[in-house]
Amino acid sequence: MKLTVVGAGYVGLTTAVCFAHLGHEVMVVEKLPNKVELLKEGKVPFYEPGLEELLKENLSLGRLSFTTELKQGLNFSEVIFICVGTPQNPDGSADLSQVEEVARETAKIMESYKLFVEKSTVPVNTHKLIKRTVERYLQRRGKQIEFDVVSNPEFLREGSAIKDFLEPDRIVVGVESQRARQIMEELYRDFKCPIIFTDPATSELIKHASNSFLAMKISYINMVADLCEKVGADVRLVAEGMGYDKRIGREFLRAGIGWGGSCFPKDIKAFIKMAKDHGVDFSLLEEVDKINQRRAVQFVEKVKNVLWSLKGKTLAVWGLSFKPNTDDIREAPSLRIIPLLLKEGAFLKLYDPKAMENFKALYPPGKDLTYEKDIYKTVEGASALLILTEWEEFEKADLERVKELMELPIIVDGRNMYDPKRVRELGFEYYGVGVP
Ligand code: UDX
Repeated sequence: MKLTVVGAGYVGLTTAVCFAHLGHEVMVVEKLPNKVELLKEGKVPFYEPGLEELLKENLSLGRLSFTTELKQGLNFSEVIFICVGTPQNPDGSADLSQVEEVARETAKIMESYKLFVEKSTVPVNTHKLIKRTVERYLQRRGKQIEFDVVSNPEFLREGSAIKDFLEPDRIVVGVESQRARQIMEELYRDFKCPIIFTDPATSELIKHASNSFLAMKISYINMVADLCEKVGADVRLVAEGMGYDKRIGREFLRAGIGWGGSCFPKDIKAFIKMAKDHGVDFSLLEEVDKINQRRAVQFVEKVKNVLWSLKGKTLAVWGLSFKPNTDDIREAPSLRIIPLLLKEGAFLKLYDPKAMENFKALYPPGKDLTYEKDIYKTVEGASALLILTEWEEFEKADLERVKELMELPIIVDGRNMYDPKRVRELGFEYYGVGVP
């Protein structure tokens, strides 16, 4: 099939590259000329394992093209994937101006049937707004052209985007017409997972409800972790014991310093606002968000309790990205924790395998903060090592060497990456989250 993808962010680019990989011909429309130039050369402007290789392969096979011209993209195919950003407004709601723009600009020039596919995470009933906009502009032009709007939310995670896209747990398609349903069935013909067809509003809700539920699961286990710390129980085993119950499931029960990223924080706020706008008090989710905000403060309190005063102390920080295998720092716990540590007067040595450049843009190196070239340089002379992201590189670290290099062998592990027994046997003082 011929497909057009508007927006070359995480979702758009992964969608485009993966559909090309499956044999479709895909044109990507992206406003930023620099980004388009980079992509045409086979370079991905962010770090996502495997994506650049797949991009290069499909460029050379001629299945993938990029343009800054929306018109060119719209003329290319009848299926338009809307993968533009839906950033957060100051009141927590989603800014849908880019979604509207795609609908409006398409309606101004379309001459034949178009299928608009919402991939971006949008509030419930956005499909209706797209429909109304397109109808208005078609009417203004005196045209009667058939079109459909489908909701087809994307559930991929950063760091495992390709696998999540190609082998999803399920595909959700919210559709109103038979014509649109047939196109979507054809598109996903070779996928082995269940495909759930619903109306568009239900499909839009599934996405927000899923993300909020996952965030809730994490906040829940984080509260259990707090209790574990008070009573000397082990949250990792509590999570395991709970998770074997199929009704609960084992995933997303890792306690730590809280969730971040480009989705959960934004989506949960948008969901709360949306519920409020419809007269539904979803204060449960407000609490989920509050619990998450508190994690950073609690973590810094823990570091202070361990070290007494932080003033003038050198602290090593491993991990800045909001999760491993990405250079993304949006809403990362590190962004909440590091300012608090600086405020306490600590001197920070930072290291992350991929996210240091992004972090430097916000926190340039200075008298109270440096960026180090490897994990060992980072711990030299440090009074404690703080772990904020569970990168595999840290798991494999030579901890004997780390211990020798530090001023004091203390680890405060915000991600429960290490086995407490093992690191204590190595001679470290170790503090995890909710572990004795
Ligand atoms: C999320 C959803 O998982 C995905 O379905 C959706 O499409 C986009 O949002 P992503 O933001 O890439 O994906 O990351 P995810 O793996 O969900 O992790 C989100 C945050 O939760 C990270 O900060 C992670 O460290 C944290 N987390 C995750 C935990 O603290 N504990 C867990 O058990 C799982």
